[in-house]
Amino acid sequence: MASGDKKPAGPDFTKGIPARDLAEGTMLSGHVGDDEVMLARQGGKLFAVSAHCTHYHGPLADGLLVGETVRCPWHHARFNLRTGEAAAAPALSPLTCWQVEERDGTIVVTSKKVQPAPTATGRANERIVIVGGGAAGFAAAEILRRRGFKGSVTMLSNDSAAPVDRPNLSKDYLAGSAPEDWVPLRSDDWYAENSIQLSLRTEVAAFDAKSKELLLGDGRKIQFDKLLLATGAEPVKLDIPGADQTNVHTLRSLSDCRAIIAQTKNAKRAVVIGASFIGLESASALRARDIEVHVVAPEKRPLERVFGPQLGDFIRALHEDHGVKFHLENGVTAINGNRVTLKNGAPLEADLVIIGVGVRPRLTLAEKAGLAIDKGVTVDRHMETSAPGIYAAGDIARWPDPISGERIRVEHWVVAERQGQTAALNMMGVPTPFRSAPFFWSQHYDVPINYVGHAEKWDAIDIEGDVMKRDCVVRYRLGGRLMAVASIYRDKDSLEAGLEMERHAGKSGGMAD
Ligand SMILES: Cc1cc2nc3c(=O)[nH]c(=O)nc-3n(C[C@H](O)[C@H](O)[C@H](O)COP(=O)(O)OP(=O)(O)OC[C@H]3O[C@@H](n4cnc5c(N)ncnc54)[C@H](O)[C@@H]3O)c2cc1C
Ligand code: FES
Repeated sequence: MASGDKKPAGPDFTKGIPARDLAEGTMLSGHVGDDEVMLARQGGKLFAVSAHCTHYHGPLADGLLVGETVRCPWHHARFNLRTGEAAAAPALSPLTCWQVEERDGTIVVTSKKVQPAPTATGRANERIVIVGGGAAGFAAAEILRRRGFKGSVTMLSNDSAAPVDRPNLSKDYLAGSAPEDWVPLRSDDWYAENSIQLSLRTEVAAFDAKSKELLLGDGRKIQFDKLLLATGAEPVKLDIPGADQTNVHTLRSLSDCRAIIAQTKNAKRAVVIGASFIGLESASALRARDIEVHVVAPEKRPLERVFGPQLGDFIRALHEDHGVKFHLENGVTAINGNRVTLKNGAPLEADLVIIGVGVRPRLTLAEKAGLAIDKGVTVDRHMETSAPGIYAAGDIARWPDPISGERIRVEHWVVAERQGQTAALNMMGVPTPFRSAPFFWSQHYDVPINYVGHAEKWDAIDIEGDVMKRDCVVRYRLGGRLMAVASIYRDKDSLEAGLEMERHAGKSGGMAD
């Protein structure tokens, strides 16, 4: 961002640039005063918007133009170029838009545009209740207000913290490189300012889909017209002696993360049980704090089940280069004080233990209410469950994915947010199918890995580039069909793969509900 004496890079758009410098379908970064601005020419029209994504500041000019939207290269957020609106998560805040015109062969940016307030929609007495204050729940509440929903919005969460940027908890925040104010998705005041009744430390015990009544853990009852279930997933616990010790942690919530950080102050050695995303991201965060890290896991290669052998080997080598010691094809049988005993009998010293052996979707509420369940809450493409007016989104939802042609359930931040947004639009009466290609990212030290699509199995892996040189696109195919693409520092390829999958699914009509 422009600050202090640092001048924003690129041409000054108020002075104008030759029109020939911005060909159809291209983008160009420059500035207007201290504001970094991106110009785009698409479909014969000119657009001028903020140059950086409102999620983590990704450079939008390196992204992809699709119709009148731009997709961010880093985590695939989408922005409407005309209005600046964050059209798809993970970005939630809009870009600023400027007036731009072409005169006598010169493109000139003039003033900032003022966007009109949304038109109020829905009935003022309509009640939407959201169970869960995580990715899906928050994104739903946010878009309801952003799109002018007039009724009441209540968000119930059994967490003690207001919605947080959960992916950060195993990355920069755990590593100590993210300031505290990066963690909340919005300030505490934002909820009241937007008439969202956020109740923290509030357990939802049950609901009745017919009478549209919800029962809280303290016995109170709440009526609703539409309900969104967004209860997420919880870490799997290990049933071994010592798993309940105070130096043994799982990582899901801000308070879990704070408890780990508090113990890192005096910890010299840590054992991470599980070579999962959370386990390995935690390992890299702990290495940034100079803690010795041992990873114990049953598999032969970390993350091979998701990424295949080549990326699995790369991830192992990357962590080893940073000093992590792996104990693979092994497990932990007991933790006694600071001593961890492995399956093969070997002892490891650990001041701190993090268990990252996977998560389980929180399905109890949906099961008790008699909703259709199939290893997740079954929803249609509008995210509606088997009970009319009851929606589900995020880690608990199994939806008909038009890209793979299967019903799938994933545990990805961006998917959860977009499903929350989709459910919200449908709840407020705007019919919206969920069609996005599943996307997730993972960060290990300075290496981001992006993944688009969904491949539970594959029969061929094609590699373009060089995995070990951190410059690759890895394509997973089944019966010749492209199922998923993982990439390192090939953001444009990742965006194009997601778009191609969505277009292909659109043509083939996807699958029926
Ligand atoms: C540390 C960490 C790092 C991650 N990093 C990434 C990443 O880099 N990329 C990626 O794609 N994904 C990542 N994920 C996964 C991602 O965070 C999840 O997929 C996403 O949060 C799911 O959103 P959700 O809304 O379904 O559930 P959650 O975000 O878990 O929210 C569920 C909410 O429901 C509440 N709740 C549950 N039951 C009840 C009840 N009975 N009553 C009241 N409230 C209830 C919980 O308190 C919580 O507020 C990460 C997850 C973790 C834990
Ligand atoms: S920085 Fe743009 S989506 Fe994350």
